Amino acid sequence: MDLDLNQLVATAGALIGQAPDAAALADAKARFLGKEGEITRHMKALGRLSPAERAAAGKALNEAKQAVEAAVNAREQALAAALLDARLAQEAIDVTLPGRGSGAGGLHPLSLTIERIEAIFRSIGFDVADGPEIEEDFFNFTALNTPENHPARSMHDTFYVEGRDAHGHGLLLRTHTSPVQIRYARTHQPPIKVIAPGKTYRVDSDATHSPMFQQFEGLWVDDDISFTDLKSVYTEFLQRFFETTDLDVRFRPSYFPFTEPSAEIDMRFRDGPLAGRWLEVAGSGQVHPTVMRNYGLDPERYLGFAFGSGVERLAMLRYGVGDLRLFYENDLRFLAQFNR
Ligand code: DAH
Repeated sequence: MDLDLNQLVATAGALIGQAPDAAALADAKARFLGKEGEITRHMKALGRLSPAERAAAGKALNEAKQAVEAAVNAREQALAAALLDARLAQEAIDVTLPGRGSGAGGLHPLSLTIERIEAIFRSIGFDVADGPEIEEDFFNFTALNTPENHPARSMHDTFYVEGRDAHGHGLLLRTHTSPVQIRYARTHQPPIKVIAPGKTYRVDSDATHSPMFQQFEGLWVDDDISFTDLKSVYTEFLQRFFETTDLDVRFRPSYFPFTEPSAEIDMRFRDGPLAGRWLEVAGSGQVHPTVMRNYGLDPERYLGFAFGSGVERLAMLRYGVGDLRLFYENDLRFLAQFNR
C-alpha cells in the first residue's frame, strides 16, 4: 500500500503540476480528491482493514492527501500569477506612443454671430442688455400689450413653468426677447438705445425651428426719432453683418401687439446664390402707446422703435447653412468649420 501511494502522489503531482489552466487543474483535482477520486476511494476502503492496519494506512493516506492538496494549491497560485502577468503585459501602457492631442477649442457659430451683432450695434451707440430666460408671464405678454386671452398669445406656443415667482406671478420660458424691452426701459432713462440678445423658447421643431432658439431685440426710445432712423440703423446693421452694400431692405406691413404700426423687415441680396429673393429678417415697429406707458414713460413725449430678429436665421444666411438643427447637434465636424 505504501508503494502504491508514493506512485499515486507522483502521478498526481505530475498531472497537477502540468495542468495548463484552471479547468484542467479542477479535473486533475477531482480525479484524486473528488467524491469518486482515487484517494477518496482508498479512504473509504480503510473500514475494511483491521484496526492495526487501519491506523498506519490512515496516516499514510492522510499524508498523501495533504501532498496532493499542496500540489493543487501550488498550481493554483502559479496559474493565477501567470494570468496576472499576461494581463499586465497586455494592458501595459506604451508611454512612447504619440498622444491623441487636444484640439484648440472655439466659439460656437451662434456665439460668434452674437458677438458680431453686438460689436456692430455697440459701434453705432447701442448698449447690450439681457434678461431672464425663465420669465414672468407679465413681462413676456401682459406688459407687451398682450393680456390674458388676447388672441395674439396663440402666435406663440409657450412652455409654461410650474410654480410662481415670489409675487405669485405665473412663469414661463420667454418666447421672445421682447420682455427685455420692458425690463430695460423701466430701469433706464431715454434716450434708450439697446439690443438684447439671448435664448428664447417655443414648442416648435423642424428644419427651420428649434424649441430653443436665439433672438436679439432692439429698442430705441427718444423724443425725436422716426421710422427712417430705424430703417437706416437696421440697413447699416445688415450691410455690416453681411459685409456688402449690395442688398435691399423693405418694410412690409404686419401685426404685433406691442407695436403700431408694425412691419416685417425683409432683405434681398443683389448677387450671390440667394440673389433676388426677399428674406424675412426681423419684426419691427413703433412702440405701442400702452407699451410706452408700461415702460413708465409718457407716450405723448417719447417715440420708440423696436425690432426683433432670429440669430439662427441670420447665421444661416451668412454661412449658407441649410438646416437650423445643425447648430444644436454638437457635431464637431460641423462646428469646427467656423473656427479656422
Ligand atoms: N417678438 C417678436 C417675435 O418674436 C419679434 C418682434 C416684432 C420684436 C416686432 C419687436 C418688434 O421688437 O417690434 O415674433
